[in-house]
Amino acid sequence: MNIVLTRRLPGSSVGKLAQYYTVRTVDKGRPLNSGEITEELSRADVAICTLTDKIGKEQISSQLKCLITFSVGLEHLDLPTLIHRGIRVSHTPVVLTAATADLTWALLLACARRLTEGSSHVQAGEFNGFGPELFLGMPLEGAVLGIIGMGRIGQAVALRGKGFGLREVLYSSPRRLEPAVEKELCARSVELEELLRNSDFVSIHCPHRPETRYLIGASELRQMKDRACLINTARGPIIDEEALAAHLRQKPHFVCGLDVYEEEPTIHPGLLGRRNAICLPHMGSANLPSREAMARVCIEEAIRFAKGDRLLYELDEKGGVAQ
Ligand code: DGY
Repeated sequence: MNIVLTRRLPGSSVGKLAQYYTVRTVDKGRPLNSGEITEELSRADVAICTLTDKIGKEQISSQLKCLITFSVGLEHLDLPTLIHRGIRVSHTPVVLTAATADLTWALLLACARRLTEGSSHVQAGEFNGFGPELFLGMPLEGAVLGIIGMGRIGQAVALRGKGFGLREVLYSSPRRLEPAVEKELCARSVELEELLRNSDFVSIHCPHRPETRYLIGASELRQMKDRACLINTARGPIIDEEALAAHLRQKPHFVCGLDVYEEEPTIHPGLLGRRNAICLPHMGSANLPSREAMARVCIEEAIRFAKGDRLLYELDEKGGVAQ
């Protein structure tokens, strides 16, 4: 059987595939374009792709039997077509939860305490000594953190918040947590509107689905406090970037920290060069152990497929993910 990897993956686990497959790793050092994806997948029984590979009807060849994505997110895949054609699909949840929650806090703290502004000030040689009013930021102690989407990553973010003396964690999610988990996380389930109105920090952790596209648009931004912070390490299209850019222009004390964008790698020009926006290059899961573990999950899923075993994180026949 042939397996294709659309990118080089970190770690040494890729070597294990040779026992089961003829392996082709595409190593262009950049995301493939849609023609290249079509061509690469046309000869593969199994493919390991990444979130930059948009795989639709055209890219799904009759030879493909199993597709594994080096990501927890699945929105780059045409799941109805894959499932309809009986192609088995898997992904890499769990192993990136801690890394993504850590980066969420890094971004949140950077926004709260104006780290990029302070650093640029020093790097530009403008620091001329301590100032009582220099770079005043937002406190964490006594603040309300709102979490949109309380899955694994949302819960890991709430857990990390426990050391900061937050007043409360509010969350809005389709599924309510067990009371014991709510207690452990000091988290209270509320409607989105209540969360937006009352939170000082709002962090997005829901998946991107048709129903979550533009979940945060102009009217939701208006519901938030003028002096608030919005963090997105989930998926770009959950926020209407045009509306966010306008809001950042109108509300100088409103801050956002973004790791993901509506049309990656393009970024709305209104988000760039702004004092009140910190923009990162989709690096939520980017620490070495986490990325190596994502690679290992992909390789192990491919080996399970070759052996005829059940995949660990295989999507069900409705495209649903294992909980
Ligand atoms: C994912 O896996 O979906 C992240 O966005 C990148 O690691």
